[in-house]
Amino acid sequence: MGQTISSLWRGITYRGREGHYAFILHRLAGLGVLAFLVLHVFDIFLMAFGANAFNDFLALYTNPIARLAEVGLIFGVVYHAFNGLRIIIIDFWPATTVYSRQLWWLVVAITLVLTAVAGFFTLRPLFV
Ligand code: HEM
Ligand code: HEM
Repeated sequence: MGQTISSLWRGITYRGREGHYAFILHRLAGLGVLAFLVLHVFDIFLMAFGANAFNDFLALYTNPIARLAEVGLIFGVVYHAFNGLRIIIIDFWPATTVYSRQLWWLVVAITLVLTAVAGFFTLRPLFV
């Protein structure tokens, strides 16, 4: 147990700086979106049991905790998509590597703006 914790800690701290955090966040976002996809295949599958089964389950997505999780999903999708494009750009044009940190901050800015806008509409029904 102690060993697992210390190796996790080293995994988080061994280098630090943008490139390492970009990678950790990319992996968490990819796995998070994948986890949602499993749930999402299940909810669409409920259509086979009629409109009521489907609608009753979808109603769960409107509760406050689910809406917060949806903002997390938006963040994960947008971050993974744009950081994925950043990785692809650097892979295809290695000369852009010198700008990898700036490109990452651009990805972070795009992600925060799009998450704020979409998150506003996702959370608004909780306040009106
Ligand atoms: C919360 C936002 C989302 C909503 C409201 C939503 C809604 C839907 C709906 C209504 C369908 C059924 C379409 C049909 O059969 O006519 C569907 C299918 C699907 N969605 Fe989503 N979706 C969302 C997010 C996502 C995300 C993030 C992914 C990818 C990770 C995804 C992947 C899929 C896939 C693979 C299907 C199956 C398509 C098929 O079987 O024909 N969705 N979605
Ligand atoms: C615009 C769409 C997407 C782009 C451009 C993209 C891009 C990428 C790239 C470039 C990598 C490799 C990262 C590396 O070399 O370190 C990657 C890894 C990954 N992607 Fe995506 N991706 C997209 C959508 C998705 C979706 C929808 C899912 C989940 C359903 C997903 C899950 C993952 C996972 C789990 C990894 C492995 C992460 C790791 O090894 O750390 N991706 N993605």
